[in-house]
Amino acid sequence: MNVFLIGSGGREHALAWALAASPLIGRLICAPGNAGTAMLAENRALDWHDHEAVVRFCRAEAIDLVVIGPEAPLVAGLVDDLEAAGIRAFGPGRAAARLEGSKGFTKDLCARAGIPTARYARFADAAAARAHVETQDFPIVVKADGLAAGKGVTVAQNREEALAAVEACFAGAFGAAGAEVVIEEYLEGEEASYFALVDGTTILPLVSAQDHKRAFDGDEGPNTGGMGAYSPAPVMTREREAEVLARIIRPTVTALAEAGTPYRGVLYAGLMITNEGPKLIEYNVRFGDPECQVLMMRLKSDLLAALEACVDGVLAHVDLRWRDETALTVVMAAKGYPGAYEKGSVIRGLDEAAKVPGVEIFHAGTEREGDLVRAAGGRVLNVTALGATVREARARAYEAIARIDWPEGFWRSDIAWRALAHEEQGSHQDQGSHEEQGS
Ligand code: AMP
Ligand code: GLY
Repeated sequence: MNVFLIGSGGREHALAWALAASPLIGRLICAPGNAGTAMLAENRALDWHDHEAVVRFCRAEAIDLVVIGPEAPLVAGLVDDLEAAGIRAFGPGRAAARLEGSKGFTKDLCARAGIPTARYARFADAAAARAHVETQDFPIVVKADGLAAGKGVTVAQNREEALAAVEACFAGAFGAAGAEVVIEEYLEGEEASYFALVDGTTILPLVSAQDHKRAFDGDEGPNTGGMGAYSPAPVMTREREAEVLARIIRPTVTALAEAGTPYRGVLYAGLMITNEGPKLIEYNVRFGDPECQVLMMRLKSDLLAALEACVDGVLAHVDLRWRDETALTVVMAAKGYPGAYEKGSVIRGLDEAAKVPGVEIFHAGTEREGDLVRAAGGRVLNVTALGATVREARARAYEAIARIDWPEGFWRSDIAWRALAHEEQGSHQDQGSHEEQGS
């Protein structure tokens, strides 16, 4: 099967890595890709914004399946245009992609279907939003309705911050994405992500993961696209997974099917585990980045067969196997990210780093120039490791990082601190029961 993968991040390198390992793969082409995908696929400079050009390209290259990594092409309806041209594509069409493209759309769907989520109100003008803020307790969460590259959410600690966030949205800080605003209740708890493949009706649960959105250790500093992730997320017990499937994902899939806009693709539920149980924070209509990297490390089955079954509506026949180990990834980012940063610095030591057992290095913002790998983005590398325990996976990832020579980079040194705490608490409990048995 000839596969065309769209995107350029660590997520796409991890997807290319898993697709390239499939017994079904023919040619693998990636656009635009990065220095990592170039080792596994043919990188092309095609711009996905031109849907007709993508259709022509797929015909010329005899592409059997298009796999779309990021949300923007999905929300823009690339899948609809490919399908209209008779080309199979993995990911939801424009209508179902509103689950990520419009926070208000998702909140209304949750309200109609009784899905647990934060209480909310939607506003199309600043005066009404301001008046609403005056009636609220704090903290409160102010969100631009549309796609804002992870920057459209403000957790406002007080009235002034909430009003400032409302003003910013309506003043165009997020472009068209802020023309409407959702103001919602602040949820307390531990965050986790859960993923499922959906073929319109059948739901195939994947596994859980947790990411670290803040730039610096201790979950301090500005929000980023994600500075690291691990899977599984210990907070997602079997009972909670079952609850998320029954109370959140199943009713969503049913509602979209009944509306005549069935969901096909991977559904990523961002959750808050509150003391009233899991609640939906948001949906994404794609794999997470860097969550995908840890999912792909744990997946034992053929990714390509699963994605194809999803597109063809035969997911009921697929059974996926996962490694029990923990997978963990640490993002190495250019100093300054998520603000301004320099491009072009040289990264050395990648081959030595990749020799650490259980380690895969996925590239995000990189470019190759002859023998040199250069930084070409904010998030640059995802140093990813498997381990029998969280502690082992983490030790391996940081050992690999120690072999990478890139003075212009920075990374968090505490990825998976919560999972490590869960693990150590568990092993203390185990020790406790052994001692009791011994006495
Ligand atoms: P989102 O872009 O919706 O994922 O929001 C980004 C981050 O804001 C989430 O990962 C949460 O950490 C936080 N957040 C969003 N909505 C809420 C909420 N209702 N309560 C608490 N935190 C939230
Ligand atoms: N890591 C968060 C996301 O992919 O949205």
